[in-house]
Amino acid sequence: MEHSTRAVIRPALARRSRTTALLLVTGLVASVLSLAAAGPAGAAGATLGAAAAEKGRYFGTAVAAGRLGDSTYSGLLQREFDMVTAENEMKIDATEPNQNQFSYGNADRIVNLARSQGKRVRGHTLAWHSQQPGWMQNMSGSALRSAMLNHVTKVATYYAGKIYAWDVVNEAFQDGSSGARRDSNLQRTGNDWIEAAFRAARTADPNAKLCYNDYNTDDWSHAKTQAVYRMVQDFKSRGVPIDCVGFQSHFNAQSPVPSNYQTTLQNFANLGVDVQITELDIEGSGSAQASNYERVVNACLAVTRCAGITVWGIRDTDSWRSYGTPLLFDGSGNKKAAYTSVLNALNAGSNPQPGVIDPSAWYVLVNRNSGKALDVYGLATNDGGRITQWTRNSGANQQWQFLDSGSGYYRVKSRHSGKVLDVPNSSTADGAAIQQWTDHSGVNQQFRAVESGGYVRLVNRNSNKAVEIQGSSTADGANVVQYGDTGGNNQQWQLVRVG
Ligand code: G3I
Repeated sequence: MEHSTRAVIRPALARRSRTTALLLVTGLVASVLSLAAAGPAGAAGATLGAAAAEKGRYFGTAVAAGRLGDSTYSGLLQREFDMVTAENEMKIDATEPNQNQFSYGNADRIVNLARSQGKRVRGHTLAWHSQQPGWMQNMSGSALRSAMLNHVTKVATYYAGKIYAWDVVNEAFQDGSSGARRDSNLQRTGNDWIEAAFRAARTADPNAKLCYNDYNTDDWSHAKTQAVYRMVQDFKSRGVPIDCVGFQSHFNAQSPVPSNYQTTLQNFANLGVDVQITELDIEGSGSAQASNYERVVNACLAVTRCAGITVWGIRDTDSWRSYGTPLLFDGSGNKKAAYTSVLNALNAGSNPQPGVIDPSAWYVLVNRNSGKALDVYGLATNDGGRITQWTRNSGANQQWQFLDSGSGYYRVKSRHSGKVLDVPNSSTADGAAIQQWTDHSGVNQQFRAVESGGYVRLVNRNSNKAVEIQGSSTADGANVVQYGDTGGNNQQWQLVRVG
């Protein structure tokens, strides 16, 4: 196969193991713990999405189908973002305008465009008191409960496998000091409507992360924040399927970035869920706005389970609060000071390698010396397929999962081929080429991930040699071999989480 045809970016296949266990990278506990404070990563991203990816995060935007024909808009979308949320097109009124008649045209335009560009999609939203179609607004009781569950099931089933995370339920708590549920027709069907929606979503799309999403939940001291926290805590304790909490984070003078924002994110993460910043916009301009954005980015980067940030629109003129110029690009599509501060904060952030390997995650392995990614050459799927380095495109043949072999060893599985890294014939020789092979859990297929200043070295269990780029080559297609563990940069890999 002509190698250049490989550069197609393959949309991420949704998948996720339910396990939440995080396995420690082999190494001294002390050095593991110090990893979180490791210095800046080597590579600097030139766009929001690339910079966030270097830190194991995503950077997304809300997208309006009606604006996709605007080339400035779609150009910025393509270039800067690697996660997409439909601003209105996946809401209940859009997807089920008449009961049991589903309409996915505009949502599909957004989902298909995102996936064709290798971007992931956040689904927004399955159950909400607002933007209900007329037929639903007029329902109540058990008929409404059934209609809501039918909606969740049908829409989540239709998009199953294409959605990274669903906002299953949106804005179900009241503002103010009560900490109560928001009164709505859905709430009046019974207090268990939220968990019922989550269970239906899990059944319909077992691989999507399921989020609860809300606003005014950013300040840890607010009653609403506390109430959502208690609900998530209760869900986790009773096994209600919830994977993430979305913080909309619409900020302005009346609702500024709280000083305890990072505390809020961390406290929720400590419940065993991911946290996501889902609808970020900050009214203002100039350096004040820029520094508020920087605070938000830094808060996310400081919380290991903060999976990423989505801004609620691209240009100020695209915003639901356009009068407040709350976004990162001005009306002409020029980068604002806020853009620069976000990009700089992402690039300055500490290395994402937190000292743990998540066996449910997919990683791109970026070589410290060459900046290129570990790659199944020519999209091979056969036993013996060659492993090489190639310019990073985050395709499925550049995504790897660490399967736990116990005692700190992992098999490293290709998302593209399903095969694992393997030292041929259990060679112990320097220079033996690494290949892919059917997983048989052999010791020649097991590697320990040795912490290396925020990078890892992959040392084979059988040969005790490290996976390296032969001759410190920086060329596409260079050989990936095993060699005595010298600790050189060509033996160090950055684990960039992409799924
Ligand atoms: O497209 C129609 C247009 O044809 C019509 O003439 C016009 C009349 O007002 O309405 C236009 O539709 C508007 C739509 O946005 C598209 O611009 C709706 O009225 C308007 O209600 C809708 O607002 C959306 C709002 O949710 C509705 O609740 C905003 O775009 C959207 O940004 C906003 O997003 C919400 C999140 O879903 C949840 N969190 C809060 C966030 C901001 O309010």
